[in-house]
Amino acid sequence: MYTQLQHRDLPEPPVNIGTLRKMKADGVPIACLTAYDASFALLVDTAGTDLVLVGDSLGMVIQGHGTTVPVTVADIIYHTRAVARGLRRSFLVADMPFMSYTTPDQALHNAVLLMQEGGAMMIKLESGEGQFEIVEHLARHDIPVCAHLGLKPQSVHKIGGFRVQGRDPEAARQMVGAAKRLEECGADIVLLECVPNEVGQAVTEAVGIPVIGIGAGPQVDGQILVLYDILGITQGRVPRFVRNFMQGLDSPLAALTAYVQAVKDRSYPAPEHCFS
Ligand code: KIV
Repeated sequence: MYTQLQHRDLPEPPVNIGTLRKMKADGVPIACLTAYDASFALLVDTAGTDLVLVGDSLGMVIQGHGTTVPVTVADIIYHTRAVARGLRRSFLVADMPFMSYTTPDQALHNAVLLMQEGGAMMIKLESGEGQFEIVEHLARHDIPVCAHLGLKPQSVHKIGGFRVQGRDPEAARQMVGAAKRLEECGADIVLLECVPNEVGQAVTEAVGIPVIGIGAGPQVDGQILVLYDILGITQGRVPRFVRNFMQGLDSPLAALTAYVQAVKDRSYPAPEHCFS
């Protein structure tokens, strides 16, 4: 009864929140990626990715919008369902889209949809002071939560662009405080986007839960990147922290495996991918 049918032939058990906590405790880097469909999910899983996020970045890389703001709960459910079918070992997290968590009850309602209809094992929400009560409410109902700090793309129109966060000491201090408070409220993971290395390190040392960085330097517990960025599909200017893993390789699976390896041996991120 405790073994899922799809997992019966797996050489190692699927990743769960306990696995991720142990990886932090043992200093084993957590390799994470986004995915949006079943075929890529299968490749990402085969490459050894520990955690897969169905990010609202799908609004930009799949739907072609300029921001993540137009993405809906129905969009995330659709893509999460597809990704869930492609995964066997990786831990599946789904993003709560813009304005889907304005009150504790709305957040709980939508988180339940992402888990029951989409098959997500955890939900992620862009968090700050305004979300402490929401994270607490979700945690009280046993919804696993990944809190998202640093650059919060859903706030792009409020902050005036996609830019590095936490550069001044007061903002950095507030971010560390928010991470601690979110942990107290019951968050299971913190995702930290686009901050100087020093802030990545300070947040990682301040909390007991895993910290996954994207443009947050090498001293976090794990790394995540947008799938289309690392496969060289994204056109135009890409953020400083992106590395194209397709370079010199002849298949998406080889590139994804190289990414996982580079996270595990800490050769990614290199200094040229970091903010300091
Ligand atoms: O939506 C997304 O893809 C994200 C990234 C930070 C990984 O949240």
